[in-house]
Amino acid sequence: MSKIFCVVCRCVLLLSVALRSLAAVTNTGITVQLNGVYYYSPPHAVGQLAHDLPVQPGELKTVTVVTTAATSFDNALLSAMQSTYTAEDDVWQKGFSDLLHIQYTGAETLATHTNLGVFTTATQNQSLFVPNGPYFMSSTGALYEAHRLYTDSIGAFTETVTQDAQGSFSVLPANSPGQNLAIAVPSRLYYTKTADKPLAGVRVGVKDIFDIKDLKTSNGNRAWYHLYPPANETGPAIQGLLDAGAIIVGKLKTSQFANGERATADWVDYHEPFNPRGDGYQDTSGSSAGPGAAVAAYDFLDLAVGSDTGGSVREPAQVQGILGNRPTHGLISLDKVMTMAPELDTAGLLARDPSLLKTACHVLYKQNFNISTTYPKQILALDFPTTPQTAGEKLLDEFLKAITAFLNAKITNISLEHVWQSTSRISTPLKEYLNLTYPVLISQHQIQNIRDPFYRDYGKLHDGRIPFVDPVPLSRWKYGEATTATISAEAAKKENFKSWFETEILKPDPSTCSDKLLLYTNTKFKPAYRNKYHESPTPPFGFELLSISIFSGTPDVVVPVGETEFWSNVTEHVEVLPVTVDIMAARGCDGMVLSLVEELYREGIVKVARAGGSVSNGGEILVRRSEG
Ligand SMILES: *[C@@H]1O[C@H](CO)[C@@H](O)[C@H](O)[C@H]1NC(C)=O
Ligand SMILES: *[C@@H]1O[C@H](CO)[C@@H](O)[C@H](O)[C@H]1NC(C)=O
Ligand SMILES: *[C@@H]1O[C@H](CO)[C@@H](O)[C@H](O)[C@H]1NC(C)=O
Ligand SMILES: *[C@@H]1O[C@H](CO)[C@@H](O)[C@H](O)[C@H]1NC(C)=O
Ligand SMILES: *[C@@H]1O[C@H](CO)[C@@H](O)[C@H](O)[C@H]1NC(C)=O
Ligand SMILES: *[C@@H]1O[C@H](CO)[C@@H](O)[C@H](O)[C@H]1NC(C)=O
Repeated sequence: MSKIFCVVCRCVLLLSVALRSLAAVTNTGITVQLNGVYYYSPPHAVGQLAHDLPVQPGELKTVTVVTTAATSFDNALLSAMQSTYTAEDDVWQKGFSDLLHIQYTGAETLATHTNLGVFTTATQNQSLFVPNGPYFMSSTGALYEAHRLYTDSIGAFTETVTQDAQGSFSVLPANSPGQNLAIAVPSRLYYTKTADKPLAGVRVGVKDIFDIKDLKTSNGNRAWYHLYPPANETGPAIQGLLDAGAIIVGKLKTSQFANGERATADWVDYHEPFNPRGDGYQDTSGSSAGPGAAVAAYDFLDLAVGSDTGGSVREPAQVQGILGNRPTHGLISLDKVMTMAPELDTAGLLARDPSLLKTACHVLYKQNFNISTTYPKQILALDFPTTPQTAGEKLLDEFLKAITAFLNAKITNISLEHVWQSTSRISTPLKEYLNLTYPVLISQHQIQNIRDPFYRDYGKLHDGRIPFVDPVPLSRWKYGEATTATISAEAAKKENFKSWFETEILKPDPSTCSDKLLLYTNTKFKPAYRNKYHESPTPPFGFELLSISIFSGTPDVVVPVGETEFWSNVTEHVEVLPVTVDIMAARGCDGMVLSLVEELYREGIVKVARAGGSVSNGGEILVRRSEG
């Protein structure tokens, strides 16, 4: 018995040795802790230092790199550098001071630095220069980047990622305390924005319906994620952002197949992210739930890519009090992006900073962005309260007055339905005419493009079984199959509306791009608790304010204008909810609207939204005590 056992044992040993010699070990980087802060350090060295510090093999030292033309880098310059780095970067900290490495750009010989109190090295050889900032150094002097790890405390990400030296993405092999995924962000000091790279170092999250080469796409469905291989291509929208220098840090949650879902019962496969505003238990809306919640919650994230077919960028922007845009339909290719209805699908961005949003939209939409800075002098205000009474209504009124004064414009309150009745040749009210258009287009297209191939591929692998699908997409697909309405008839109605809209409401204008601006609000001024039980989902019938840009194909930008108080049933305390206004213009005038938003910001009429519990003050996100 024991002999046999030994023989088997030896065989196993030999086999394992043989396998091991064949296996390629991949270094995926390391995680370290420095003064209680977690970092990820990617495996590829980015530079090399000559030093005579005693460093043991396997030991790491911290290095701060600074580039200067000052012949003598003294204590005053050192402390100025430390203040700048602290202000500009969330990754650098004083702990990166085992070694100070000075890159000297002046012409003279570099003086020695004996009075700095830190071990200092220097070089004048520019071909050895690395970007300024924090690094980890090995015993051989190899320099590795420092990426700070944050915890996704509001659960907005589906997968977090890192990019290797060749630019390939893989899942981030790191974790940190906080019961959620860790996100790794490189030092902001490594990047300099240029004309070619206007998004250099800008940290971006991407809704998980956009393919990124080598990463899996879930579309918010677990079975889908596991069924299909990683994407073999990155679509042009995301590639454009990468080419402009953006740093993609992860994929963000979408409600399933980008259908609007509500917390919490609708979100079966994945849990809805937490809206950081107010009591922290408000619905994030959707379908770009992850993009909206993450941009509202995290200072370390600058921008998120979402999609808007029926409000999916705008609603998360509205309830989270950040900027978000639905572009003119057709501005950018949606190749390698999951589709709802090609007639309505668009890709938009969510951000806190108006200037960054404009720059990033310019990158995304390229020559179709049409920046112009001469603005319309007519404003249509749609369904605003005529006699503002509550604090929230007064905020809206102040914003209307401020934008009207800034543009020296004339404002008219209109009802779209009235204008439709009096100017269109169609006698059916808008609400009825376009009632079925959205549910028919999205469901019948998704049946064809998503459901059928998905069920077929899944069934082939699992003995004819059907994959799990959340209640909302399921009920919509069921409706799409049952209804006698058709894509062609509904798409024709949409086209009729679009022609009417550009003749009667927002017309192209040679000097101001659009003859008017159209303003509306979708703020409800009441909480939408995520712990509320709802009726079973029904198809998204109807025509609402949000539908105007959907069917007219016009740009629609959400702008936060402040917040109002409410009594929270969760905290039993007064909390705040965001108030937003949407600005629309004629098709093709995206660049004009976003230039206007940037100017309103310079005038103090629009403010940068803060990350945290409050749009205006930032402040703590309840539950979470600190990040990191
Ligand atoms: C600068 O560094 C490069 C790369 O190591 C080396 O090839 C070159 O000779 C150096 N130049 C000078 C002037 O030392
Ligand atoms: C990616 O896969 C698709 C589908 O198999 C194929 O048509 C396409 O050519 C592939 N693209 C690349 C870049 O390999
Ligand atoms: C339109 O509505 C706004 C906002 O309530 C109000 O301030 C303004 O007086 C109204 N204008 C007209 C012409 O009724
Ligand atoms: C929209 O369609 C639904 C379903 O057919 C119907 O119940 C509802 O009354 C319609 N609404 C309007 C305004 O036509
Ligand atoms: C909040 O609590 C009050 C009092 O208990 C109740 O009347 C109200 O319906 C609650 N609101 C929501 C949205 O749950
Ligand atoms: C926007 O720019 C494109 C490309 O230059 C042009 O075809 C289009 O007419 C412009 N649209 C507007 C509204 O100016």
